[in-house]
Amino acid sequence: MQTSPLSTTEVNSALERIAARVKAQCLMEASGHDWLHVQRVYHIAMRLGHEMAADCLVVGIGALLHDVWDHKLGYSDSERSQLATDFLEGEQVVLSADQHANLLALLNSISYKKGNNANAPSTLEAMLVQDADRLDALGAVGIARTFAFGGAHGRVMYAPELDTVSPEHRQDSIGHFYDKLLKLKDLMNTSAAKLEAEKRHAFMEAFLAQFYSEHGE
Ligand code: ADP
Ligand code: NI
Repeated sequence: MQTSPLSTTEVNSALERIAARVKAQCLMEASGHDWLHVQRVYHIAMRLGHEMAADCLVVGIGALLHDVWDHKLGYSDSERSQLATDFLEGEQVVLSADQHANLLALLNSISYKKGNNANAPSTLEAMLVQDADRLDALGAVGIARTFAFGGAHGRVMYAPELDTVSPEHRQDSIGHFYDKLLKLKDLMNTSAAKLEAEKRHAFMEAFLAQFYSEHGE
């Protein structure tokens, strides 16, 4: 485990300051990247981090910042690294060189990118934040986020005529379960997250069965 140059009080105060900044920025985001998503990812990642003796400062900051300069918003790895470094400096958060490198690697590696594992997490801290982000895409919350995202992007909820189209070419929200969500339980990095993912997966399977049964009535 890496040691932080900060005391526990300083760590907590740094995490609170960063949380307040991120919250102010994404409070009303309506497509699934709202503050409550960040907060859930943070809590799941910190729980896993404590269980696995990870560096919880890196896990905490990584979870809070994981969607801020996302590649989907057009940021490159080097832009993200620079923006994160400037942000931490502005917030006067002092990390050791190892922690700083660990954090940048984490931020640059957790996005799903269509299952392309070229940039797969290589540190425990990155694995935990990626697992937490993926868990929040599953289960009841994941179902709600999927339809919120679909609505925000003008997607129809369900287009039965697309049932025979390959998942990556479907434009309806139901298609997203097959394109991504039902694959995530097998992509978890840690066994604790896999166990939780299996429960959330079963809930989504039950949801889909009920959905089709009501649709067919
Ligand atoms: P994150 O970066 O937090 O993992 P994403 O940007 O990939 O999240 O997606 C945000 C939310 O919207 C997630 O719950 C995801 O499953 C959902 N989502 C992403 N793409 C689609 C899509 N094409 N249709 C419906 N929901 C989607
Ligand atoms: Ni996220």
